[in-house]
Amino acid sequence: MTNKDRETTSTPAERSTSATVGLQNLARKEQEKRVQRPTEELRRTVERWLLKRCIGNLQHIIESGAISPTDALSIIAEDAGMFSEEKYAQGYKKFKNNSGLIYAGETFFETSYRHDGSGDVYNFRRPSSAGVNFLYKLHQHLSGKEFDSPEKLKAAVQEVLIGKRVLEVGCGPGFDLKLLKDLGADVSGVEIRGDFAGMIKGLDVRAGDAAKLDGVFGDETFDIIYSRNLFSEAVLGMKRSEEIAVKLCEHTKQGGIQIHQVGYKKMGLEVLLFSMWVSNREAGRDQKETEEWFWNKPGWERDALLYQNRCSLDPQDLLREGLALKEYAIENGELNIVATKAPC
Ligand SMILES: C[S@@+](CC[C@H](N)C(=O)[O-])C[C@H]1O[C@@H](n2cnc3c(N)ncnc32)[C@H](O)[C@@H]1O
Repeated sequence: MTNKDRETTSTPAERSTSATVGLQNLARKEQEKRVQRPTEELRRTVERWLLKRCIGNLQHIIESGAISPTDALSIIAEDAGMFSEEKYAQGYKKFKNNSGLIYAGETFFETSYRHDGSGDVYNFRRPSSAGVNFLYKLHQHLSGKEFDSPEKLKAAVQEVLIGKRVLEVGCGPGFDLKLLKDLGADVSGVEIRGDFAGMIKGLDVRAGDAAKLDGVFGDETFDIIYSRNLFSEAVLGMKRSEEIAVKLCEHTKQGGIQIHQVGYKKMGLEVLLFSMWVSNREAGRDQKETEEWFWNKPGWERDALLYQNRCSLDPQDLLREGLALKEYAIENGELNIVATKAPC
Protein backbone atom coordinates (compact mmCIF):
# COMPACT_ATOMS: atom_id res chain seq x y z
CA MET A 1 0.00 0.00 0.00
CA THR A 2 1.39 3.43 -0.99
CA ASN A 3 1.24 6.53 1.24
CA LYS A 4 -1.41 7.91 -1.12
CA ASP A 5 -3.56 4.80 -0.67
CA ARG A 6 -3.10 5.13 3.10
CA GLU A 7 -4.27 8.77 3.03
CA THR A 8 -7.38 7.95 1.02
CA THR A 9 -8.24 4.85 3.10
CA SER A 10 -7.77 6.49 6.55
CA THR A 11 -10.85 6.97 8.74
CA PRO A 12 -12.24 10.47 9.57
CA ALA A 13 -11.01 10.02 13.18
CA GLU A 14 -7.48 9.27 11.98
CA ARG A 15 -7.55 12.24 9.62
CA SER A 16 -8.70 14.54 12.41
CA THR A 17 -5.92 13.32 14.76
CA SER A 18 -3.23 13.87 12.15
CA ALA A 19 -4.62 17.35 11.42
CA THR A 20 -4.46 18.19 15.15
CA VAL A 21 -0.85 16.96 15.37
CA GLY A 22 0.00 18.98 12.26
CA LEU A 23 -1.50 22.12 13.76
CA GLN A 24 0.34 21.58 17.05
CA ASN A 25 3.65 21.22 15.21
CA LEU A 26 2.96 24.42 13.28
CA ALA A 27 2.10 26.27 16.52
CA ARG A 28 5.28 24.98 18.17
CA LYS A 29 7.43 26.14 15.26
CA GLU A 30 5.81 29.60 15.37
CA GLN A 31 6.37 29.75 19.12
CA GLU A 32 10.03 28.74 18.72
CA LYS A 33 10.50 31.54 16.21
CA ARG A 34 9.20 34.08 18.71
CA VAL A 35 10.86 32.76 21.93
CA GLN A 36 14.57 33.52 21.90
CA ARG A 37 16.58 31.30 24.20
CA PRO A 38 18.57 33.49 26.63
CA THR A 39 22.13 33.84 25.45
CA GLU A 40 25.03 32.72 27.63
CA GLU A 41 25.83 36.41 28.07
CA LEU A 42 22.33 37.20 29.35
CA ARG A 43 22.26 34.19 31.66
CA ARG A 44 25.60 35.28 33.12
CA THR A 45 24.37 38.86 33.70
CA VAL A 46 21.22 37.72 35.53
CA GLU A 47 23.08 35.15 37.63
CA ARG A 48 25.74 37.70 38.53
CA TRP A 49 23.15 40.28 39.55
CA LEU A 50 21.23 37.80 41.73
CA LEU A 51 24.38 36.64 43.46
CA LYS A 52 25.54 40.19 44.10
CA ARG A 53 22.29 40.88 45.94
CA CYS A 54 22.47 37.66 47.94
CA ILE A 55 26.12 37.98 48.96
CA GLY A 56 26.21 41.77 49.27
CA ASN A 57 23.92 41.85 52.30
CA LEU A 58 26.00 39.26 54.09
CA GLN A 59 29.17 41.19 53.41
CA HIS A 60 27.65 44.21 55.20
CA ILE A 61 26.78 42.08 58.25
CA ILE A 62 30.34 40.73 58.34
CA GLU A 63 31.89 44.19 57.94
CA SER A 64 29.77 45.35 60.91
CA GLY A 65 31.43 42.63 63.01
CA ALA A 66 28.18 40.82 63.85
CA ILE A 67 29.39 37.47 62.53
CA SER A 68 32.73 36.00 61.49
CA PRO A 69 33.20 35.31 57.75
CA THR A 70 33.82 31.61 58.34
CA ASP A 71 30.67 31.22 60.44
CA ALA A 72 28.68 33.04 57.74
CA LEU A 73 30.15 30.73 55.11
CA SER A 74 29.17 27.67 57.12
CA ILE A 75 25.60 28.96 57.31
CA ILE A 76 25.43 29.68 53.58
CA ALA A 77 26.85 26.27 52.77
CA GLU A 78 24.31 24.56 54.99
CA ASP A 79 21.51 26.67 53.56
CA ALA A 80 22.55 25.90 49.99
CA GLY A 81 22.14 22.20 50.76
CA MET A 82 25.84 21.34 50.70
CA PHE A 83 25.37 19.01 53.63
CA SER A 84 22.01 17.79 52.35
CA GLU A 85 21.29 14.08 52.43
CA GLU A 86 18.97 13.98 49.43
CA LYS A 87 21.28 12.06 47.13
CA TYR A 88 22.46 9.48 49.64
CA ALA A 89 22.12 5.81 48.71
CA GLN A 90 19.36 3.85 50.46
CA GLY A 91 21.80 1.49 52.22
CA TYR A 92 23.77 4.45 53.51
CA LYS A 93 20.66 6.20 54.79
CA LYS A 94 19.72 3.08 56.74
CA PHE A 95 23.27 2.83 58.11
CA LYS A 96 23.27 6.51 59.09
CA ASN A 97 19.88 6.30 60.74
CA ASN A 98 21.08 3.39 62.83
CA SER A 99 24.47 4.87 63.68
CA GLY A 100 23.31 6.87 66.72
CA LEU A 101 24.85 4.46 69.23
CA ILE A 102 28.18 4.53 67.43
CA TYR A 103 28.27 8.29 67.90
CA ALA A 104 26.77 8.29 71.40
CA GLY A 105 30.11 9.06 73.02
CA GLU A 106 31.10 11.57 70.36
CA THR A 107 33.42 14.27 71.59
CA PHE A 108 33.10 17.89 70.58
CA PHE A 109 36.57 19.27 70.06
CA GLU A 110 37.44 22.90 70.44
CA THR A 111 39.66 22.79 67.44
CA SER A 112 39.01 23.26 63.77
CA TYR A 113 40.74 23.52 60.43
CA ARG A 114 41.82 27.03 59.63
CA HIS A 115 41.98 28.46 56.18
CA ASP A 116 45.72 28.41 55.79
CA GLY A 117 45.88 26.38 52.62
CA SER A 118 45.88 23.00 54.34
CA GLY A 119 42.39 22.72 55.74
CA ASP A 120 38.92 23.89 54.86
CA VAL A 121 37.28 27.13 55.85
CA TYR A 122 34.30 25.78 57.71
CA ASN A 123 34.44 26.46 61.42
CA PHE A 124 31.71 24.05 62.31
CA ARG A 125 30.19 21.01 60.71
CA ARG A 126 27.59 18.63 61.97
CA PRO A 127 29.88 16.53 64.15
CA SER A 128 28.48 13.15 63.12
CA SER A 129 28.77 13.92 59.42
CA ALA A 130 32.46 13.07 59.64
CA GLY A 131 33.24 9.42 59.29
CA VAL A 132 29.82 7.85 58.72
CA ASN A 133 30.45 7.16 55.05
CA PHE A 134 33.84 5.69 55.93
CA LEU A 135 32.29 3.34 58.51
CA TYR A 136 29.58 2.46 55.99
CA LYS A 137 32.22 1.49 53.41
CA LEU A 138 34.09 -0.58 56.00
CA HIS A 139 30.91 -2.40 56.94
CA GLN A 140 29.93 -2.88 53.29
CA HIS A 141 33.30 -4.35 52.30
CA LEU A 142 34.37 -6.21 55.44
CA SER A 143 31.16 -7.27 57.14
CA GLY A 144 27.96 -6.66 55.18
CA LYS A 145 26.03 -8.16 58.12
CA GLU A 146 22.34 -7.36 58.17
CA PHE A 147 21.22 -5.22 61.08
CA ASP A 148 17.84 -4.04 62.24
CA SER A 149 18.81 -1.99 65.29
CA PRO A 150 21.49 0.50 66.36
CA GLU A 151 22.80 -2.14 68.80
CA LYS A 152 23.32 -4.72 66.05
CA LEU A 153 24.94 -2.15 63.78
CA LYS A 154 27.35 -1.02 66.48
CA ALA A 155 28.27 -4.65 67.23
CA ALA A 156 28.87 -5.32 63.50
CA VAL A 157 31.12 -2.27 63.16
CA GLN A 158 33.03 -3.15 66.32
CA GLU A 159 33.54 -6.68 65.03
CA VAL A 160 35.23 -5.21 61.96
CA LEU A 161 37.42 -2.85 63.97
CA ILE A 162 38.34 -4.49 67.27
CA GLY A 163 42.05 -5.25 67.42
CA LYS A 164 42.69 -3.97 63.89
CA ARG A 165 45.74 -1.84 63.23
CA VAL A 166 44.41 1.28 61.51
CA LEU A 167 46.30 4.17 59.91
CA GLU A 168 44.83 7.44 58.70
CA VAL A 169 47.04 9.44 56.35
CA GLY A 170 46.58 13.21 56.46
CA CYS A 171 44.51 12.86 59.62
CA GLY A 172 44.44 16.49 60.78
CA PRO A 173 43.90 16.51 64.57
CA GLY A 174 42.41 13.00 64.26
CA PHE A 175 38.65 13.48 64.68
CA ASP A 176 37.89 10.21 62.86
CA LEU A 177 40.70 8.34 64.59
CA LYS A 178 39.20 9.17 67.97
CA LEU A 179 35.93 7.59 66.91
CA LEU A 180 37.65 4.46 65.55
CA LYS A 181 39.70 4.14 68.72
CA ASP A 182 36.56 4.31 70.83
CA LEU A 183 35.13 1.50 68.69
CA GLY A 184 38.07 -0.75 69.51
CA ALA A 185 40.64 -0.19 66.76
CA ASP A 186 44.33 0.29 67.42
CA VAL A 187 44.77 3.61 65.63
CA SER A 188 47.60 5.82 64.44
CA GLY A 189 47.65 8.85 62.18
CA VAL A 190 50.26 10.68 60.19
CA GLU A 191 49.93 14.39 59.55
CA ILE A 192 52.32 16.78 57.84
CA ARG A 193 51.27 19.72 60.00
CA GLY A 194 53.12 19.23 63.26
CA ASP A 195 50.77 21.47 65.24
CA PHE A 196 47.92 18.95 64.94
CA ALA A 197 49.79 16.22 66.81
CA GLY A 198 48.69 16.04 70.44
CA MET A 199 45.61 18.26 69.98
CA ILE A 200 43.38 15.34 70.94
CA LYS A 201 44.71 13.72 74.07
CA GLY A 202 45.58 10.02 74.03
CA LEU A 203 45.71 9.72 70.24
CA ASP A 204 48.76 8.49 68.37
CA VAL A 205 48.98 11.25 65.75
CA ARG A 206 52.53 11.52 64.42
CA ALA A 207 53.99 14.47 62.60
CA GLY A 208 55.36 13.30 59.27
CA ASP A 209 55.00 12.99 55.53
CA ALA A 210 52.77 10.24 54.13
CA ALA A 211 55.37 9.76 51.37
CA LYS A 212 57.99 8.92 53.99
CA LEU A 213 56.10 6.40 56.11
CA ASP A 214 59.20 4.27 56.79
CA GLY A 215 60.71 7.12 58.77
CA VAL A 216 57.54 7.38 60.86
CA PHE A 217 56.44 3.75 61.30
CA GLY A 218 59.55 1.72 60.36
CA ASP A 219 58.44 -1.43 58.54
CA GLU A 220 55.13 -1.72 60.37
CA THR A 221 52.12 -2.77 58.29
CA PHE A 222 48.43 -2.00 58.83
CA ASP A 223 45.14 -3.89 58.41
CA ILE A 224 43.32 -0.76 57.34
CA ILE A 225 44.82 2.36 55.77
CA TYR A 226 42.49 5.17 54.90
CA SER A 227 42.40 8.82 53.97
CA ARG A 228 39.68 11.39 53.83
CA ASN A 229 40.17 14.44 51.66
CA LEU A 230 43.90 13.92 51.42
CA PHE A 231 43.93 12.81 47.78
CA SER A 232 42.18 15.89 46.51
CA GLU A 233 43.71 18.21 43.95
CA ALA A 234 43.55 21.01 46.48
CA VAL A 235 45.82 19.10 48.88
CA LEU A 236 48.03 16.89 46.72
CA GLY A 237 49.20 17.06 43.12
CA MET A 238 49.25 13.93 40.95
CA LYS A 239 52.96 13.35 41.44
CA ARG A 240 52.77 13.40 45.24
CA SER A 241 49.71 11.18 45.12
CA GLU A 242 51.57 8.56 43.12
CA GLU A 243 54.52 8.71 45.49
CA ILE A 244 52.25 8.33 48.53
CA ALA A 245 50.21 5.50 46.94
CA VAL A 246 53.41 3.42 46.56
CA LYS A 247 54.27 3.86 50.25
CA LEU A 248 50.74 3.08 51.42
CA CYS A 249 50.76 -0.21 49.52
CA GLU A 250 54.07 -1.21 51.11
CA HIS A 251 52.59 -0.57 54.56
CA THR A 252 49.33 -2.49 53.95
CA LYS A 253 49.17 -6.03 55.40
CA GLN A 254 48.44 -8.98 53.10
CA GLY A 255 44.65 -9.20 53.18
CA GLY A 256 44.47 -5.60 54.32
CA ILE A 257 42.25 -2.91 52.91
CA GLN A 258 42.70 0.70 51.79
CA ILE A 259 39.85 3.18 51.63
CA HIS A 260 40.35 6.65 50.20
CA GLN A 261 37.56 9.16 50.15
CA VAL A 262 37.44 12.56 48.51
CA GLY A 263 34.50 14.90 48.98
CA TYR A 264 32.81 15.28 45.62
CA LYS A 265 29.82 17.49 46.16
CA LYS A 266 28.72 20.20 43.82
CA MET A 267 28.78 23.58 45.53
CA GLY A 268 26.18 26.27 44.99
CA LEU A 269 27.49 29.26 43.03
CA GLU A 270 26.80 31.47 46.03
CA VAL A 271 28.96 29.24 48.25
CA LEU A 272 31.86 29.30 45.80
CA LEU A 273 31.78 33.07 45.24
CA PHE A 274 31.28 33.82 48.91
CA SER A 275 34.15 31.55 49.90
CA MET A 276 36.33 33.33 47.33
CA TRP A 277 35.32 36.62 48.93
CA VAL A 278 36.21 35.28 52.40
CA SER A 279 39.64 34.07 51.20
CA ASN A 280 40.34 37.33 49.38
CA ARG A 281 39.33 39.35 52.41
CA GLU A 282 41.69 37.35 54.64
CA ALA A 283 44.56 37.62 52.17
CA GLY A 284 43.87 41.30 51.37
CA ARG A 285 43.33 40.48 47.69
CA ASP A 286 41.08 42.28 45.28
CA GLN A 287 37.70 40.57 44.93
CA LYS A 288 36.92 42.36 41.66
CA GLU A 289 39.83 40.66 39.94
CA THR A 290 38.68 37.21 41.12
CA GLU A 291 35.14 37.89 39.95
CA GLU A 292 36.29 39.05 36.51
CA TRP A 293 38.47 35.93 36.23
CA PHE A 294 35.53 33.74 37.22
CA TRP A 295 32.84 35.32 35.05
CA ASN A 296 35.09 35.48 32.00
CA LYS A 297 35.44 31.68 31.97
CA PRO A 298 33.22 29.69 29.64
CA GLY A 299 30.12 28.16 31.30
CA TRP A 300 31.51 24.61 31.42
CA GLU A 301 34.67 25.76 33.18
CA ARG A 302 32.70 27.71 35.77
CA ASP A 303 30.59 24.61 36.29
CA ALA A 304 33.68 22.45 36.78
CA LEU A 305 34.89 24.85 39.46
CA LEU A 306 31.79 24.08 41.48
CA TYR A 307 33.01 20.56 42.18
CA GLN A 308 35.21 20.54 45.24
CA ASN A 309 38.24 18.42 45.71
CA ARG A 310 38.76 16.68 42.43
CA CYS A 311 40.70 13.48 43.13
CA SER A 312 44.43 13.27 42.49
CA LEU A 313 44.79 9.56 43.24
CA ASP A 314 44.87 7.39 40.14
CA PRO A 315 43.52 3.94 41.09
CA GLN A 316 45.99 2.52 38.55
CA ASP A 317 48.73 3.42 41.02
CA LEU A 318 47.15 1.06 43.56
CA LEU A 319 46.73 -1.69 40.95
CA ARG A 320 50.36 -1.34 39.87
CA GLU A 321 51.41 -1.96 43.48
CA GLY A 322 49.46 -5.23 43.60
CA LEU A 323 46.15 -4.16 45.12
CA ALA A 324 42.78 -5.29 43.81
CA LEU A 325 40.24 -2.55 43.21
CA LYS A 326 36.92 -3.27 44.95
CA GLU A 327 35.15 0.00 44.41
CA TYR A 328 35.69 3.19 42.47
CA ALA A 329 32.51 5.20 42.60
CA ILE A 330 30.97 8.51 43.53
CA GLU A 331 28.43 7.80 46.23
CA ASN A 332 27.08 9.67 49.23
CA GLY A 333 28.83 12.89 48.23
CA GLU A 334 32.25 11.29 48.06
CA LEU A 335 34.45 9.56 45.56
CA ASN A 336 35.23 6.24 47.22
CA ILE A 337 38.28 4.21 46.24
CA VAL A 338 38.45 0.84 47.97
CA ALA A 339 41.25 -1.66 47.32
CA THR A 340 42.49 -4.84 49.01
CA LYS A 341 45.98 -6.25 49.13
CA ALA A 342 45.31 -9.93 48.46
CA PRO A 343 42.67 -11.63 46.35
CA CYS A 344 39.65 -12.42 48.49
C1 LIG B 1 41.65 18.35 53.79
S1 LIG B 1 42.56 17.89 55.24
C2 LIG B 1 41.66 16.44 55.77
C3 LIG B 1 41.89 16.09 57.17
C4 LIG B 1 41.11 14.89 57.72
N1 LIG B 1 41.46 13.69 57.01
C5 LIG B 1 39.60 15.12 57.65
O1 LIG B 1 38.94 14.47 56.83
O2 LIG B 1 39.08 15.91 58.43
C6 LIG B 1 44.03 17.17 54.53
C7 LIG B 1 45.11 16.96 55.56
O3 LIG B 1 46.20 16.29 54.95
C8 LIG B 1 47.41 16.84 55.47
N2 LIG B 1 48.51 16.53 54.52
C9 LIG B 1 48.77 17.10 53.33
N3 LIG B 1 49.83 16.53 52.73
C10 LIG B 1 50.26 15.57 53.57
C11 LIG B 1 51.33 14.63 53.51
N4 LIG B 1 52.18 14.57 52.47
N5 LIG B 1 51.48 13.79 54.55
C12 LIG B 1 50.64 13.83 55.61
N6 LIG B 1 49.61 14.69 55.72
C13 LIG B 1 49.42 15.55 54.71
C14 LIG B 1 47.08 18.32 55.62
O4 LIG B 1 47.95 18.98 56.49
C15 LIG B 1 45.63 18.25 56.13
O5 LIG B 1 45.57 18.23 57.53
